[in-house]
Amino acid sequence: KILIFLGPPGAGKGTQSQFLKDRDNFIQISTGDILREAVKNGTELGKKAKSYMDTGQLVPDEIIIGIIEEKLKELSDKNIIFDGFPRTLNQAESLDKLLNQIGKKIDAVILFEIPDEEVIRRLSGRRIDPKTGTVYHIEFSPPPKDVEVIQRDDDKEEVIKKRLEVYHSQTAPLIDYYSKKNILYKIDATLPPEEVYKKIKSVL
Ligand code: AP5
Ligand code: ZN
Repeated sequence: KILIFLGPPGAGKGTQSQFLKDRDNFIQISTGDILREAVKNGTELGKKAKSYMDTGQLVPDEIIIGIIEEKLKELSDKNIIFDGFPRTLNQAESLDKLLNQIGKKIDAVILFEIPDEEVIRRLSGRRIDPKTGTVYHIEFSPPPKDVEVIQRDDDKEEVIKKRLEVYHSQTAPLIDYYSKKNILYKIDATLPPEEVYKKIKSVL
């Protein structure tokens, strides 16, 4: 199966991808995680991406599409979740072409619906264990006392606002794009994580 997790920053796309990886034999392709890893390792890709990410803007389409093309070569026979990709109409059309070339198609696009105020609460409270990548929230899923956590560079209030603005202007048009193809499924992303998981399973 091929799934797309579409939704604003902080909607819980990464959290739910982890559930499906652990429980349902999915592989997650998160363009955000790939880019953060590249920034951390100081690669060419990381150098190109950093300034966009730090200011909450999208990394240019051709860079992102190149990443996906490579990933699809290795993983095309697997159950895949695209987390945070596509984010522009151009990316969506490119994905359709790439999948078409290998005789695959998107099975479902899950739209995570959540109001902006809730996104701000979630992202300002998000903490990450840099050793394992486990995601916590200071209020909703606090880290154990002995785990040292960090905050993502783009989880500052000004950057969060910019990311939301970019989502509404550049990514939200995909809702229409996929609903016209009859593969869009909306879920209430404000529910607790296990409830959101059940909704996703009911789509599958
Ligand atoms: P990316 O890494 O994709 O970030 P994002 O879309 O902004 O989404 P987040 O990772 O912030 O949120 P999430 O939905 O995964 O939520 P999470 O599960 O962590 O992108 C980062 C940057 O990279 C972009 O700004 C851009 O520059 C670049 N980029 C990436 N992809 C790109 C592309 N395709 N094109 C161009 N540029 C690209 O949860 C958030 C918090 O809420 C956590 O603390 C969690 O514990 C908590 N939480 C989760 N679920 C629940 C729940 N149900 N109830 C209560 N709390 C919850
Ligand atoms: Zn994420």
